[in-house]
Amino acid sequence: MEIVMIAARSENGVIGKNGGLPWHMPADEAVFLNEIEGCFLLSGRKSYESNQGNTIFRNKQFVIITRQEDYEAGPGGHIAHSVEAGIELARAQQAPRLCVLGGGEIYRQAMPYADQLIITDIHTYVENGDAFFPQIDPEHWALTQQASHEADEKNPFPCTFNWYQRRSNT
Ligand SMILES: NC(=O)c1ccc[n+]([C@@H]2O[C@H](COP(=O)([O-])OP(=O)(O)OC[C@H]3O[C@@H](n4cnc5c(N)ncnc54)[C@H](OP(=O)(O)O)[C@@H]3O)[C@@H](O)[C@H]2O)c1
Repeated sequence: MEIVMIAARSENGVIGKNGGLPWHMPADEAVFLNEIEGCFLLSGRKSYESNQGNTIFRNKQFVIITRQEDYEAGPGGHIAHSVEAGIELARAQQAPRLCVLGGGEIYRQAMPYADQLIITDIHTYVENGDAFFPQIDPEHWALTQQASHEADEKNPFPCTFNWYQRRSNT
C-alpha cells in the first residue's frame, strides 16, 4: 500500500489557523481532490471536524485518528487510536493507496511511514498560525515534479505544487 501525505503550507510552514485553513485557494483544492480520488483517507479528529472536512469524506472510505474510545465517524468512517493502527486498518481493507490528510499532529506522526508527499507551497506568510507541516529533509525526500499556478481573481496567492518521493535508501 502506497502512503501519500497531502498538504498545503505557507512560506513559513503554516497549514492551519484557528481550526481552519488560512486561505481559500480553489486551484489547490482542484489538485487535492484529483489526488485523493479513489484513495482510502486518514485524518486527525480535529481536521475531520473542521470546515474542510464537510465534503472531502463523502462517499469515501476513511479512518479518523482519535483518543476518544466512543468516537463515531460518519458513513464510511472507521476510527483508530494511533496513526499506526489507522495505517494497519487501511492495509487490512486492501486499500492500494492511503492519503494522509493531516492536520499538523497527524502529519508529524505519519511522516516516517510516508512514501510520497504532495505539498502545495502557498506563496504567502501567515501570522499566528497554530498548525504546521514538519520539515521535509532533502536527505530523505527527492523532488520529482513541480507545477505552478499564478494568482488570479479566484486565487489570492501564487502557489507551487510539489511531488516528493522518499529516497530509496531512507
Ligand atoms: N493546509 C493543509 O493542508 C491542512 C490539512 C489538514 C488540516 N489542516 C489544518 O490543521 C489544523 C488541525 O491540525 P491539528 O494538528 O490541530 O489537529 P489534527 O492533527 O487534525 O487532529 C488532532 C487530533 O487527532 C487525534 N490524535 C493525534 N494524535 C493521536 C494519537 N497518537 N493517538 C490517537 N489520537 C491522536 C486527537 O484527537 P482527540 O482529541 O479526538 O483524541 C487530536 O486532538 C486545522 O487548522 C486544519 O484546518 C490543514
